[in-house]
Amino acid sequence: MSDERIYAKPWTDYELIDAGGGKKLERWGSVITIRPEIQAYFKTEKSFKEWEQIADWEFVARGSHSGSWKPLKQHLKKDWQISFEKLKFNLELTKFKHIGLFPEQRVNWDYIKSHLTADDKFLNLFAYTGAASCVARYTGAETYHVDSVKQLISWARTNMEESRLMNVKWVLEDALKFANREQKRGNKYKGIIMDPPAWGIGAKGEKWKLEEKIDELMATAASLMTEDGFLIMNTYSPILDIPMITTLAEMYFPTKNVSVKELWMKSSSGKELFFGNLLRVS
Ligand SMILES: C[S@@+](CC[C@H](N)C(=O)[O-])C[C@H]1O[C@@H](n2cnc3c(N)ncnc32)[C@H](O)[C@@H]1O
Repeated sequence: MSDERIYAKPWTDYELIDAGGGKKLERWGSVITIRPEIQAYFKTEKSFKEWEQIADWEFVARGSHSGSWKPLKQHLKKDWQISFEKLKFNLELTKFKHIGLFPEQRVNWDYIKSHLTADDKFLNLFAYTGAASCVARYTGAETYHVDSVKQLISWARTNMEESRLMNVKWVLEDALKFANREQKRGNKYKGIIMDPPAWGIGAKGEKWKLEEKIDELMATAASLMTEDGFLIMNTYSPILDIPMITTLAEMYFPTKNVSVKELWMKSSSGKELFFGNLLRVS
């Protein structure tokens, strides 16, 4: 196991059962799904036939960005809930193959939990359904949740309510636009997490690639972080490698500890999946 790797662990309600042949088999509570997975270029441990015997749903891609869910059993629900410790996350089968949670982010939830207290402020940019926001709010930290998609803010609110947490600052806006305003107001955060998509849509509806925005994102994070603060950034880009991310982070955070590792998850069957590079500045 290389030092350059960090492994996300499963938990009671989530397990990567097997992977291979361009797909992954996962258990979410009592629901088992089969989804396409570009990183699963190796052979599966069990055959697809065996997967289909235990799975409830399979996502069938139509084109590169969407598709539909094929039921493999009868009388299935399309939405359900799972727990992570005391938190509750609502899951739903979406036409984008996602179901509302990125389980490999568990490594970051654990980090956030152990680095925040009720006296701190936390900023979640590109916050999706709010798993990291829920974890941060659970520590008592004042939590700002920013995403540019209205339905995802609603989904995150539901997760927060189901987890019996309150008083999160919900921000429906372009992440950089909000961050730049916060910078002008002189606001600072002890913890910042950014999970920008490889392809994003900016404040004026313009499309951007992560490799074109990473410099600005890091500069903004540096200006918003308290001296004793931390930054977590997930990068899922085929262009941004570990030396590039390290060089950039060391430039913007010259006095801080910079670590960039590959994020991996191991299936119960022993297969390993790569989930992009993970930057931590502390
Ligand atoms: C990869 S997901 C983040 C996943 C999240 N960190 C998690 O683990 O649950 C990317 C998110 O960024 C949001 N997004 C995309 N472009 C954005 C922008 N310009 N400003 C704010 N949010 C944006 C999307 O709506 C989506 O929720």
